[in-house]
Amino acid sequence: MKPFDPKSFHNILGNLLQDERVAEMKRFVQHGSITTYDHCRNVASISQRINRGLRLKANEDTLLKGAMLHDYFLYDWHDNPRDHNGWHGTAHAGVACRNAEKDFDIDSQTAHVIRSHMWPLNITSVPRSREAWIVCIADKLVSAQETIRHRR
Ligand SMILES: [Fe+2]
Ligand SMILES: [Fe+2]
Repeated sequence: MKPFDPKSFHNILGNLLQDERVAEMKRFVQHGSITTYDHCRNVASISQRINRGLRLKANEDTLLKGAMLHDYFLYDWHDNPRDHNGWHGTAHAGVACRNAEKDFDIDSQTAHVIRSHMWPLNITSVPRSREAWIVCIADKLVSAQETIRHRR
C-alpha cells in the first residue's frame, strides 16, 4: 500500500474539497501564512501517511473526512481569541463539530474525530478511536511544522 495515495485521497475528499462551504476556510489564516483550508488538507494528507505508513488500519473515510473538517469553525481566531464561546483553544473543536454536523452528513465516528482533536488541552475529550488518535497527533505535527516554517 502506498503511504500517500492521491487517488483514494480524492475519492474520499473530492466532494468536500470542492464544497463552497469548506472553501470558506480559505478566508482564514491558521498559522503564519497558512490558511485553515490548507492546514486541514495537510492534516488529512499526513493522517493518511501515518495510517498507511504505520499500518494502523484506521477507516480512511472517517479519518480523512474528520481531518478535513477538524477545524471547520469558520471564523478568524486571531480577531478575538476569547470571543468565540469561550477561549478559541478550548472552544473551537466543539464549534467545528457542530458546524460539520449541520452542513454535512457526518456520522458519529467522524464527529468524534473532530470533537477530540484538541486533547489534551480539552482534557475530557479523549480520543477513543484509531482515527481520532491519528488526527489528534497529525494536527500537532502539522501545526508545529506550519508555525516554524511559515513564520511571518
Ligand atoms: Fe484545531
Ligand atoms: Fe488543526
